[in-house]
Amino acid sequence: MKISASFLSIKDNLKENILILDQSNIDYLHLDIMDGIFVHNTTWDIDTIKDLLINTKKPKDVHLMVSDVKKYIDDFSTLNPEYITIHFEAVSDIESTINYIKSKNIKVGLSIKPMTDIVSLIPFLSLIDLVLIMSVEPGEGGQNFIEDTSYKIDILKQLRDENNYYNYVIEVDGGINDETIKLCSNVDIAVVGSYITNSDDYNEQINKLK
Ligand code: DX5
Ligand code: ZN
Repeated sequence: MKISASFLSIKDNLKENILILDQSNIDYLHLDIMDGIFVHNTTWDIDTIKDLLINTKKPKDVHLMVSDVKKYIDDFSTLNPEYITIHFEAVSDIESTINYIKSKNIKVGLSIKPMTDIVSLIPFLSLIDLVLIMSVEPGEGGQNFIEDTSYKIDILKQLRDENNYYNYVIEVDGGINDETIKLCSNVDIAVVGSYITNSDDYNEQINKLK
């Protein structure tokens, strides 16, 4: 299982702590991008992010919690991220948006909120590189894991095993710690924010998860 670390909950010395996080044994840096419309909070624009992430080396895992998806794809593709993930609930023309991200040679993720049924994703599973299962309501870090979302992970694993033309990775995001990670044994990537960044030894927390 890989770890994608979110820096959303880092309160002070953000730039320095992002660099420390980047140098720890995480696999990806998870960028939580919020526009204050799709979710109530607003985070960083592309220029701020470029400044904050100077000298970071880990591949970027961009999580767009925005309504104007195309604008943010244009902005954040300039980072050459490994993944750009959009929300099923934010996009009307999902297939063309998937193709738009692919046209930039970036892997595509599709995310669903806790209340969105897994069936909604079925038509797109053969087109995407990553599925992001939200185990909290998107919009902020430090929330509690919603237990009845983890079944979606198991269904996605089963669907992938039964259909060899599905090659998405399964990612879970929200409320992950050394206890809730045990409910997510079928994920390929776990997004972890506050459990890591609220501690003063990032690697110690990461090792507990791995
Ligand atoms: C929530 C974000 C998550 C969050 C995870 O909207 O998408 O990535 O930052 O943080 P924790 O691990 O603190 O729940
Ligand atoms: Zn996220």
